[in-house]
Amino acid sequence: MIFTVLTLFPGIFDSPLKESITKKAVDKGLINFNIINIRDFADDAHKTCDDAPYGGGPGMVMKIEPIYRAMEYVEKSAGRPRYVLLSPQGRIFDENTAIRYARSKHLCLVCGRYEGLDERVLNLVDEEVSIGDYVLSGGEIPALVLIDAITRCIPGVLGNEQSSIDESFSGGLLEYPQYTRPDAFMDMEVPPVLLSGNHEEIRKWRRKEAIKKTIFKRPDLMNRFTPTDEDRKLIREVMEEIPE
Ligand code: ADE
Repeated sequence: MIFTVLTLFPGIFDSPLKESITKKAVDKGLINFNIINIRDFADDAHKTCDDAPYGGGPGMVMKIEPIYRAMEYVEKSAGRPRYVLLSPQGRIFDENTAIRYARSKHLCLVCGRYEGLDERVLNLVDEEVSIGDYVLSGGEIPALVLIDAITRCIPGVLGNEQSSIDESFSGGLLEYPQYTRPDAFMDMEVPPVLLSGNHEEIRKWRRKEAIKKTIFKRPDLMNRFTPTDEDRKLIREVMEEIPE
């Protein structure tokens, strides 16, 4: 899969993509990055990419032409990608969107900057995505967030294919609690079932704990969760264990 990024600050992408999972995915040939400086597509001597807003008001607005020309350049060498604009006005990004984007052959993330972006850029992109209800200085960090989450959904990226399925949100529940050695630290002990070697008991315990965690920490996620018959029984058990 190709990730193309259109940005005024390509340096922001230098080190994060060269570490950890994204680096390994590049080394395995599963993903490729193409970081493009929008400024290279400005057509005046000053490489202007922003201008004053029509109608007046404070701040500067990112111009449409350099972005359009950068897109033309991308399409000439690699065909038309799926264009996603990062903006606090977009739909909130979640794991299902990451899974959907991971099926694309070529994703182009367009990073807005400054106080705003010419509204007509919205007509050039396929989707507008936000990573949460807060305003960042630009779309670069959100683009890195998307790249990380999407890369993890690409088959072959995570060593253990099961680990992306088990983790929080896939399947609609938070992840069950994990422990490693030592089995006792100060007065905190690892739940005995995990040391029992009984795989069926461990599986059931984990499912119940995932349900418990989700009910207590993120009850909103339960509305979208489709329980199996076993889950329904576990939900009842969790609710019955809550003290009056
Ligand atoms: N650009 C600025 N803030 C943003 C946000 N919350 N999500 C995506 N892009 C942004």
